[in-house]
Amino acid sequence: MKSISLIQFLIEERRAGRVNAELSLLIEVVARACKRIAVATNKGALGGVLGEAGTGNIQGEAQKKLDVISNEILLEANAWGGQLAACASEEMEDPQQIPDMYPKGNHLLLFDPLDGSSNIDVNISVGTIFSILRCPDGITQPKAEHFLQPGTTQLAAGYVVYGPATVLVLTFGYGTHEFTLDREVGSFVLSRRDIRIPEETAEFAINMSNQRHWEPPMQRYIGELLAGKDGPRNKDFNMRWVASMVADVHRIITRGGTFFYPLDVKIRSKGGKLRLMYEANPMAFIIEQAGGAATTGRERIMELQPTGLHQRVPVFLGSKKEIEVATHYHLTAD
Ligand code: AHG
Repeated sequence: MKSISLIQFLIEERRAGRVNAELSLLIEVVARACKRIAVATNKGALGGVLGEAGTGNIQGEAQKKLDVISNEILLEANAWGGQLAACASEEMEDPQQIPDMYPKGNHLLLFDPLDGSSNIDVNISVGTIFSILRCPDGITQPKAEHFLQPGTTQLAAGYVVYGPATVLVLTFGYGTHEFTLDREVGSFVLSRRDIRIPEETAEFAINMSNQRHWEPPMQRYIGELLAGKDGPRNKDFNMRWVASMVADVHRIITRGGTFFYPLDVKIRSKGGKLRLMYEANPMAFIIEQAGGAATTGRERIMELQPTGLHQRVPVFLGSKKEIEVATHYHLTAD
């Protein structure tokens, strides 16, 4: 089979009128930065990249060295290309402006440079998640408020999982596609076009250690899955939890399943664990474009009006029928 590189794929999509030149260039730049993050990640202890950086991020979490390195790689790669008006990162309090020496474009880039970073030191898959928005007309120095657009306005979203293989999953609103990094050639090659997530599944992902803290409808839903064939669902379910959202989502993109990070009493005051702008919205776009569903348990994630750059929300995503059941339990319990 003739292989199609990411660049070829984007050129063909441009010719078909599904993506414009500036957006496709921006996607290429992000993909190129992620190749550099893959190199740093793969070096592990030999690259001196493991362990704590000795700093904290805006979320008050200790930063790993690779969090800081990945953030810098993405900022540097995207500063000069001319497609961006500004960037926002999970690791930085405020948006980063494009230096005056470079031309500015009309896109906004948001990213979680290294998701699942608690897994770095134990050599488990981690990843980068990104989302691209249009910069509002006439804004030359975008502030946080200009990034606060609902997920439905995303122009593109993607993630790269740094696992046994480095894999990029991408959407710009015309399906979800997967590219695998050919390390010898140095380019991402199309490995799956138009991915479809099965509507039904018997596999779910959740941090079960929080079970006693969940809301009653979540207790009910997971309780029924755990009851298996003897319970009301008449079916056995299997559980997986990598604790790297990219890896858990990639499993769903590959063989179906569901992922939940619900509200619990410990995180209720924060609104949830995962970040709307850097994790929930891009993943929701990717999952919906593959035929899945993504809600907070009560609302479609992509329809939320963001109120803060670092806002957190509950996340339910994956195989459509199961997400509908879990969401229905929450809505009818309210
Ligand atoms: P971080 O990037 O700070 O390591 O956060 C990881 C996120 C997400 O990737 C994962 O699904 C979840 O946090 C794991 O949460 P638990 O620690 O509760 O397992």
